[in-house]
Amino acid sequence: MASIELRAIEKWFDDLQVIKGVDFDIDEGEFIVLVGPSGCGKSTLLRILAGLEDASVGSVLIDGDDVTDRLPSERGLSMVFQSYALYPHMDVAANIGFALKTAGVGKAEIEARVRAVAKILRLEPLLDRLPKQLSGGQRQRVAIGRAIIREPKGFLFDEPLSNLDAALRVNMRLEISRLHEQLGITTIYVTHDQIEAMTLADRIVVLNEGEIMQAGSPRDLYNLPQNKFVAEFIGSPKMNLMPAEMADGKLRLLAETPRTVGLDAMPPDIAWLGVRPENIMLCAADDADDSMITGTLSVCEYLGSEQFAYVDCGFDEMITVRVDPAEELVTGTMVGLRFDPNARHCFDQAGKRL
Ligand SMILES: Nc1ncnc2c1ncn2[C@@H]1O[C@H](COP(=O)(O)OP(=O)(O)OP(=O)(O)O)[C@@H](O)[C@H]1O
Ligand SMILES: [Mg+2]
Repeated sequence: MASIELRAIEKWFDDLQVIKGVDFDIDEGEFIVLVGPSGCGKSTLLRILAGLEDASVGSVLIDGDDVTDRLPSERGLSMVFQSYALYPHMDVAANIGFALKTAGVGKAEIEARVRAVAKILRLEPLLDRLPKQLSGGQRQRVAIGRAIIREPKGFLFDEPLSNLDAALRVNMRLEISRLHEQLGITTIYVTHDQIEAMTLADRIVVLNEGEIMQAGSPRDLYNLPQNKFVAEFIGSPKMNLMPAEMADGKLRLLAETPRTVGLDAMPPDIAWLGVRPENIMLCAADDADDSMITGTLSVCEYLGSEQFAYVDCGFDEMITVRVDPAEELVTGTMVGLRFDPNARHCFDQAGKRL
């Protein structure tokens, strides 16, 4: 277990700056999930931590020691890559146990530890197989096994579940969670997947274009996004964001035809009103008053345990509303949308939370 500190990290590839001054402290035993759009620098940051890539500027500290100039093997971290490579001529057991063998651990102990890891990852029936005899998902589990067995000071995971099918992903997510609870090893985990981020993280770090947009607990990020980027990025389906302004003391939503909405105490320099799908109530269009807006119900998505209505209110994007799945929706009809006055998010022109 280790604490990890990133100090003013910058990374340039020639004249392209992909990491723009990242400062971040990770506590011992914490599970950090790094999320952000493709190309925002997640893998680069992880590789800098691991020592596989040099930072152009800044330093990395592990347990207070500056390891910036140390080799990957001297940092005590284990990494599972987005694209992993197994030793093709070794069976699963040998692949998993390889790091112990090179470290001079005895045969009996290696066997016992390989068994324990194989049990955790449900690889027991596959220990004699070669990598080419495995599916993509099975190979990925072997790669995770190789990282786990070293009992490192820290785990670095780069989208380790991206090749798995949906059911196995859920299983592996729970396994990783359980593993973390069991071993308590400091973990930094990169993913695109909302659910992985929300369920695994002690803290989520949202990265965009090489900068941290916000870091905090899943609840903090969901309930108090500090900017429009995080508001849209965390949550699925995403938060509705409507361009807005204050006019004569009233909130005006800037749809094709602007509409005034009776929401109290709005900040004067509001430029965007954000409302999550579960904080909008769908109602009949004919009880229209100024506490709601109307639109055409364009698409419904029925998912069994929940249901989403997509309503065209004349904004660039449709408004998403979560609806009780028992309700039968008819597309093409006019509906009213009532916003929960206590669950709104206001942002200024620059996208900063007000
Ligand atoms: N060796 C390199 N030379 C030049 N540019 C690079 C190099 N490696 C990465 N980049 C660029 O740096 C940026 C960040 O890449 P990185 O792989 O860290 O993104 P990512 O957030 O992991 O994306 P993804 O989610 O798609 O894996 C990208 O714009 C990428 O094109
Ligand atoms: Mg990546």
